Amino acid sequence: MTSSFDRDAFFARSMYTLSLAELDEDQRWSTWPETAHTLDRGPQPFPDWVVQHDGAVDTELGILKTGKEADAFLLERALPAAQRTGAPGEETLLVAKRYRAPELTTFHRSSAYTEGRRTKDTREARAIAKGTAFGRQAAAGQWARTEFEVLGRLWRAGVPVPYPVQIVGTELLMEFVGTDDVDGAVAAPRLQETRPDAATAERWARRLREAVLQLAELGLVHGDLSPYNVLADSRQAAPDPVIIDVPQVIDLIANPHGGEYLRRDCATICTWLCAQGAPPSAADPEEWCAAAWRAGTRS
Ligand SMILES: Nc1ncnc2c1ncn2[C@@H]1O[C@H](COP(=O)(O)OP(=O)(O)OP(=O)(O)O)[C@@H](O)[C@H]1O
Ligand SMILES: [Mg+2]
Repeated sequence: MTSSFDRDAFFARSMYTLSLAELDEDQRWSTWPETAHTLDRGPQPFPDWVVQHDGAVDTELGILKTGKEADAFLLERALPAAQRTGAPGEETLLVAKRYRAPELTTFHRSSAYTEGRRTKDTREARAIAKGTAFGRQAAAGQWARTEFEVLGRLWRAGVPVPYPVQIVGTELLMEFVGTDDVDGAVAAPRLQETRPDAATAERWARRLREAVLQLAELGLVHGDLSPYNVLADSRQAAPDPVIIDVPQVIDLIANPHGGEYLRRDCATICTWLCAQGAPPSAADPEEWCAAAWRAGTRS
Protein backbone atom coordinates (compact mmCIF):
# COMPACT_ATOMS: atom_id res chain seq x y z
CA MET A 1 0.00 0.00 0.00
CA THR A 2 1.38 3.38 -0.93
CA SER A 3 0.78 6.17 1.48
CA SER A 4 -0.77 9.14 -0.24
CA PHE A 5 0.62 12.61 0.17
CA ASP A 6 -1.67 14.63 2.46
CA ARG A 7 -1.34 18.03 0.87
CA ASP A 8 -3.45 19.93 3.42
CA ALA A 9 -1.64 18.49 6.42
CA PHE A 10 1.73 19.20 4.79
CA PHE A 11 0.90 22.85 4.20
CA ALA A 12 -0.72 23.27 7.60
CA ARG A 13 2.47 21.95 9.21
CA SER A 14 4.80 24.12 7.13
CA MET A 15 2.67 27.16 7.87
CA TYR A 16 2.89 26.24 11.54
CA THR A 17 6.69 25.88 11.64
CA LEU A 18 7.06 28.98 9.51
CA SER A 19 4.98 31.05 11.90
CA LEU A 20 6.55 29.45 14.98
CA ALA A 21 9.85 30.87 13.88
CA GLU A 22 8.18 34.24 13.56
CA LEU A 23 6.82 34.47 17.11
CA ASP A 24 8.67 37.11 19.07
CA GLU A 25 9.52 36.89 22.75
CA ASP A 26 6.52 39.01 23.68
CA GLN A 27 4.18 36.79 21.66
CA ARG A 28 2.37 33.50 22.12
CA TRP A 29 -0.27 31.56 20.22
CA SER A 30 -3.78 32.66 21.13
CA THR A 31 -4.87 30.69 24.18
CA TRP A 32 -8.53 30.73 23.01
CA PRO A 33 -8.30 27.13 21.64
CA GLU A 34 -7.20 25.97 25.12
CA THR A 35 -10.43 27.14 26.70
CA ALA A 36 -13.43 24.90 27.15
CA HIS A 37 -16.54 26.11 25.42
CA THR A 38 -18.96 26.55 28.26
CA LEU A 39 -16.68 26.84 31.29
CA ASP A 40 -13.80 29.09 30.35
CA ARG A 41 -15.34 31.43 27.79
CA GLY A 42 -17.58 34.45 28.25
CA PRO A 43 -21.37 34.56 27.85
CA GLN A 44 -22.81 33.53 24.48
CA PRO A 45 -23.41 34.61 21.85
CA PHE A 46 -19.81 35.84 21.75
CA PRO A 47 -19.57 39.48 20.66
CA ASP A 48 -18.39 39.69 17.04
CA TRP A 49 -15.09 41.34 18.02
CA VAL A 50 -13.92 38.27 19.99
CA VAL A 51 -11.01 36.67 18.07
CA GLN A 52 -11.68 32.93 17.82
CA HIS A 53 -9.20 31.92 15.08
CA ASP A 54 -6.76 29.14 16.00
CA GLY A 55 -3.96 30.89 14.14
CA ALA A 56 -4.24 34.18 16.07
CA VAL A 57 -1.27 35.49 18.01
CA ASP A 58 -1.27 37.26 21.39
CA THR A 59 1.20 40.14 21.65
CA GLU A 60 2.07 41.85 24.94
CA LEU A 61 1.74 45.61 24.56
CA GLY A 62 2.70 46.57 28.08
CA ILE A 63 1.53 46.83 31.65
CA LEU A 64 -1.51 48.92 32.55
CA LYS A 65 -1.16 48.73 36.30
CA THR A 66 0.36 46.60 39.01
CA GLY A 67 -1.91 45.84 41.93
CA LYS A 68 -1.69 44.04 45.24
CA GLU A 69 -2.95 40.67 44.05
CA ALA A 70 -2.97 41.07 40.30
CA ASP A 71 -1.37 42.98 37.45
CA ALA A 72 -3.26 44.28 34.45
CA PHE A 73 -1.60 44.04 31.04
CA LEU A 74 -2.62 45.23 27.60
CA LEU A 75 -2.66 42.47 24.99
CA GLU A 76 -3.34 42.40 21.28
CA ARG A 77 -4.96 39.25 19.90
CA ALA A 78 -4.83 39.19 16.12
CA LEU A 79 -4.50 37.09 13.01
CA PRO A 80 -1.21 37.66 11.16
CA ALA A 81 -1.65 40.78 9.00
CA ALA A 82 -1.51 38.78 5.76
CA GLN A 83 -4.53 36.70 6.81
CA ARG A 84 -6.79 39.59 7.77
CA THR A 85 -9.72 40.54 5.55
CA GLY A 86 -11.05 43.44 7.59
CA ALA A 87 -13.90 41.43 9.12
CA PRO A 88 -14.66 41.75 12.85
CA GLY A 89 -13.02 39.16 15.08
CA GLU A 90 -9.61 39.32 13.40
CA GLU A 91 -7.84 41.72 15.75
CA THR A 92 -8.68 43.17 19.10
CA LEU A 93 -7.19 44.64 22.24
CA LEU A 94 -7.71 42.82 25.53
CA VAL A 95 -6.86 43.37 29.15
CA ALA A 96 -5.07 40.44 30.76
CA LYS A 97 -5.55 40.48 34.52
CA ARG A 98 -3.00 38.09 35.99
CA TYR A 99 -3.32 37.07 39.60
CA ARG A 100 -0.13 36.39 41.50
CA ALA A 101 0.28 33.58 44.01
CA PRO A 102 0.13 35.72 47.14
CA GLU A 103 2.17 35.56 50.30
CA LEU A 104 -0.54 34.60 52.75
CA THR A 105 0.07 37.59 55.00
CA THR A 106 -0.18 40.17 52.23
CA PHE A 107 -3.40 38.81 50.77
CA HIS A 108 -5.68 41.62 51.85
CA ARG A 109 -8.97 40.34 50.47
CA SER A 110 -9.90 39.04 53.88
CA SER A 111 -11.96 36.02 54.72
CA ALA A 112 -14.79 38.40 55.70
CA TYR A 113 -15.54 38.66 51.99
CA THR A 114 -16.01 34.95 51.48
CA GLU A 115 -18.12 34.27 54.56
CA GLY A 116 -21.33 32.64 53.47
CA ARG A 117 -19.74 31.47 50.23
CA ARG A 118 -19.79 27.71 49.88
CA THR A 119 -16.41 26.02 49.50
CA LYS A 120 -15.97 22.30 49.09
CA ASP A 121 -13.45 20.40 51.19
CA THR A 122 -11.14 19.60 48.35
CA ARG A 123 -7.38 19.14 48.17
CA GLU A 124 -7.29 22.73 46.90
CA ALA A 125 -9.30 24.11 49.80
CA ARG A 126 -7.09 22.35 52.34
CA ALA A 127 -3.90 23.55 50.61
CA ILE A 128 -5.24 27.11 50.52
CA ALA A 129 -6.02 26.93 54.23
CA LYS A 130 -2.47 25.70 54.94
CA GLY A 131 -0.90 28.35 52.71
CA THR A 132 1.38 25.97 50.80
CA ALA A 133 2.91 27.07 47.47
CA PHE A 134 0.34 24.90 45.68
CA GLY A 135 -2.35 26.40 47.86
CA ARG A 136 -1.32 29.97 47.09
CA GLN A 137 -1.32 29.22 43.36
CA ALA A 138 -4.76 27.67 43.73
CA ALA A 139 -6.00 30.72 45.65
CA ALA A 140 -4.84 33.02 42.83
CA GLY A 141 -6.66 30.78 40.37
CA GLN A 142 -9.82 30.95 42.46
CA TRP A 143 -9.78 34.76 42.59
CA ALA A 144 -9.35 34.86 38.82
CA ARG A 145 -12.15 32.31 38.32
CA THR A 146 -14.45 34.20 40.69
CA GLU A 147 -13.83 37.51 38.93
CA PHE A 148 -14.42 35.83 35.55
CA GLU A 149 -17.70 34.27 36.65
CA VAL A 150 -18.99 37.41 38.35
CA LEU A 151 -18.20 39.51 35.27
CA GLY A 152 -20.17 37.01 33.19
CA ARG A 153 -23.19 37.19 35.49
CA LEU A 154 -23.10 40.98 35.56
CA TRP A 155 -22.63 41.21 31.80
CA ARG A 156 -25.63 38.94 31.20
CA ALA A 157 -27.74 41.05 33.58
CA GLY A 158 -26.85 44.21 31.63
CA VAL A 159 -24.61 45.78 34.29
CA PRO A 160 -21.95 47.92 32.57
CA VAL A 161 -18.79 45.79 33.02
CA PRO A 162 -16.06 44.71 30.57
CA TYR A 163 -17.01 41.56 28.64
CA PRO A 164 -15.07 38.59 30.10
CA VAL A 165 -13.50 36.80 27.13
CA GLN A 166 -11.84 33.77 28.73
CA ILE A 167 -10.02 32.35 31.71
CA VAL A 168 -6.92 30.14 31.75
CA GLY A 169 -5.48 29.39 35.19
CA THR A 170 -4.63 32.64 36.93
CA GLU A 171 -5.09 34.80 33.81
CA LEU A 172 -8.40 36.45 32.97
CA LEU A 173 -8.83 38.14 29.59
CA MET A 174 -11.48 40.81 29.21
CA GLU A 175 -12.66 43.56 26.90
CA PHE A 176 -10.34 46.56 26.80
CA VAL A 177 -12.24 49.70 27.81
CA GLY A 178 -10.39 52.51 26.08
CA THR A 179 -9.48 53.96 22.74
CA ASP A 180 -7.01 52.91 20.08
CA ASP A 181 -6.07 55.44 17.42
CA VAL A 182 -2.96 56.81 15.71
CA ASP A 183 -1.53 57.76 19.09
CA GLY A 184 -1.82 54.18 20.29
CA ALA A 185 -4.02 52.51 22.88
CA VAL A 186 -5.20 54.59 25.83
CA ALA A 187 -7.13 52.98 28.67
CA ALA A 188 -10.27 54.76 29.85
CA PRO A 189 -9.59 56.90 32.92
CA ARG A 190 -10.77 55.85 36.33
CA LEU A 191 -13.46 58.19 37.68
CA GLN A 192 -10.91 59.37 40.24
CA GLU A 193 -8.84 60.84 37.40
CA THR A 194 -11.74 62.75 35.84
CA ARG A 195 -13.26 66.14 36.63
CA PRO A 196 -16.87 65.82 35.47
CA ASP A 197 -19.15 68.87 35.39
CA ALA A 198 -22.18 68.83 37.66
CA ALA A 199 -24.53 67.54 34.95
CA THR A 200 -22.19 64.63 34.16
CA ALA A 201 -21.78 63.85 37.86
CA GLU A 202 -25.57 63.72 38.18
CA ARG A 203 -25.86 61.37 35.17
CA TRP A 204 -23.14 59.12 36.60
CA ALA A 205 -24.97 59.11 39.95
CA ARG A 206 -28.13 57.82 38.24
CA ARG A 207 -26.18 55.14 36.32
CA LEU A 208 -24.21 53.98 39.33
CA ARG A 209 -27.31 53.84 41.54
CA GLU A 210 -28.91 51.68 38.86
CA ALA A 211 -25.84 49.41 38.78
CA VAL A 212 -25.84 49.04 42.59
CA LEU A 213 -29.52 48.06 42.40
CA GLN A 214 -28.88 45.58 39.55
CA LEU A 215 -26.14 43.96 41.63
CA ALA A 216 -28.47 43.79 44.64
CA GLU A 217 -31.13 42.14 42.48
CA LEU A 218 -28.57 39.41 41.75
CA GLY A 219 -27.99 39.18 45.50
CA LEU A 220 -24.57 40.83 45.26
CA VAL A 221 -22.62 43.76 46.68
CA HIS A 222 -19.48 44.94 44.83
CA GLY A 223 -17.48 45.22 48.05
CA ASP A 224 -14.81 47.59 46.74
CA LEU A 225 -16.82 50.19 44.84
CA SER A 226 -14.92 53.46 44.59
CA PRO A 227 -13.90 56.02 41.95
CA TYR A 228 -10.77 53.85 41.48
CA ASN A 229 -12.80 50.83 40.36
CA VAL A 230 -15.08 52.58 37.88
CA LEU A 231 -13.87 53.67 34.44
CA ALA A 232 -15.34 56.49 32.35
CA ASP A 233 -15.90 54.80 28.98
CA SER A 234 -13.80 56.95 26.64
CA ARG A 235 -15.22 55.18 23.58
CA GLN A 236 -18.42 57.19 24.02
CA ALA A 237 -18.84 60.90 23.25
CA ALA A 238 -20.45 61.28 26.66
CA PRO A 239 -18.60 58.64 28.71
CA ASP A 240 -20.68 56.44 30.99
CA PRO A 241 -19.36 54.48 33.97
CA VAL A 242 -18.00 50.94 33.56
CA ILE A 243 -17.50 48.97 36.76
CA ILE A 244 -14.35 46.84 37.15
CA ASP A 245 -12.46 44.84 39.79
CA VAL A 246 -15.15 42.47 41.05
CA PRO A 247 -13.39 39.38 42.52
CA GLN A 248 -14.41 40.29 46.06
CA VAL A 249 -18.18 40.57 45.49
CA ILE A 250 -20.21 39.69 48.54
CA ASP A 251 -23.50 37.94 49.02
CA LEU A 252 -25.89 40.66 50.14
CA ILE A 253 -28.00 38.32 52.24
CA ALA A 254 -25.89 35.22 53.01
CA ASN A 255 -22.83 37.18 54.14
CA PRO A 256 -23.36 38.51 57.67
CA HIS A 257 -21.47 41.68 56.63
CA GLY A 258 -23.47 42.15 53.41
CA GLY A 259 -25.30 45.20 54.72
CA GLU A 260 -22.10 46.85 56.00
CA TYR A 261 -20.32 46.41 52.67
CA LEU A 262 -23.35 47.79 50.84
CA ARG A 263 -23.36 50.87 53.08
CA ARG A 264 -19.63 51.39 52.61
CA ASP A 265 -19.85 51.06 48.81
CA CYS A 266 -22.72 53.56 48.61
CA ALA A 267 -21.05 56.02 50.99
CA THR A 268 -17.72 55.95 49.13
CA ILE A 269 -19.16 56.52 45.69
CA CYS A 270 -21.79 59.05 46.79
CA THR A 271 -19.21 61.13 48.69
CA TRP A 272 -17.14 61.40 45.53
CA LEU A 273 -20.16 62.16 43.31
CA CYS A 274 -21.36 64.92 45.65
CA ALA A 275 -17.85 66.44 45.69
CA GLN A 276 -18.10 66.60 41.88
CA GLY A 277 -21.36 68.52 42.10
CA ALA A 278 -24.00 65.80 41.86
CA PRO A 279 -27.09 66.96 43.76
CA PRO A 280 -27.30 65.28 47.19
CA SER A 281 -30.75 63.94 46.27
CA ALA A 282 -29.21 61.93 43.39
CA ALA A 283 -26.26 60.64 45.43
CA ASP A 284 -27.81 59.95 48.81
CA PRO A 285 -26.14 56.83 50.26
CA GLU A 286 -29.04 56.14 52.66
CA GLU A 287 -31.52 56.20 49.81
CA TRP A 288 -29.30 54.01 47.59
CA CYS A 289 -28.90 51.46 50.40
CA ALA A 290 -32.60 51.31 51.14
CA ALA A 291 -33.44 50.90 47.45
CA ALA A 292 -30.73 48.23 46.99
CA TRP A 293 -31.96 46.36 50.05
CA ARG A 294 -35.50 46.38 48.66
CA ALA A 295 -34.20 45.17 45.27
CA GLY A 296 -32.19 42.40 46.93
CA THR A 297 -34.96 41.09 49.16
CA ARG A 298 -37.81 41.33 46.68
CA SER A 299 -38.88 37.78 45.91
N1 LIG B 1 -11.14 46.25 31.15
C1 LIG B 1 -10.29 47.25 31.35
N2 LIG B 1 -10.11 48.21 30.42
C2 LIG B 1 -9.23 49.20 30.62
N3 LIG B 1 -8.48 49.33 31.74
C3 LIG B 1 -8.62 48.41 32.70
C4 LIG B 1 -9.53 47.33 32.57
N4 LIG B 1 -9.45 46.56 33.68
C5 LIG B 1 -8.54 47.15 34.47
N5 LIG B 1 -8.02 48.26 33.90
C6 LIG B 1 -6.99 49.14 34.45
O1 LIG B 1 -6.16 48.39 35.33
C7 LIG B 1 -6.29 48.86 36.66
C8 LIG B 1 -6.30 47.70 37.63
O2 LIG B 1 -7.46 46.92 37.45
P1 LIG B 1 -8.23 46.32 38.70
O3 LIG B 1 -8.73 47.41 39.57
O4 LIG B 1 -9.22 45.35 38.18
O5 LIG B 1 -7.04 45.49 39.36
P2 LIG B 1 -6.50 45.40 40.85
O6 LIG B 1 -5.20 44.70 40.76
O7 LIG B 1 -7.52 44.78 41.69
O8 LIG B 1 -6.24 46.87 41.23
P3 LIG B 1 -6.17 47.50 42.68
O9 LIG B 1 -5.45 46.55 43.57
O10 LIG B 1 -5.42 48.77 42.39
O11 LIG B 1 -7.61 47.74 43.05
C9 LIG B 1 -7.57 49.68 36.67
O12 LIG B 1 -7.53 50.70 37.63
C10 LIG B 1 -7.62 50.24 35.27
O13 LIG B 1 -6.82 51.41 35.19
MG1 LIG C 1 -8.86 48.11 41.45
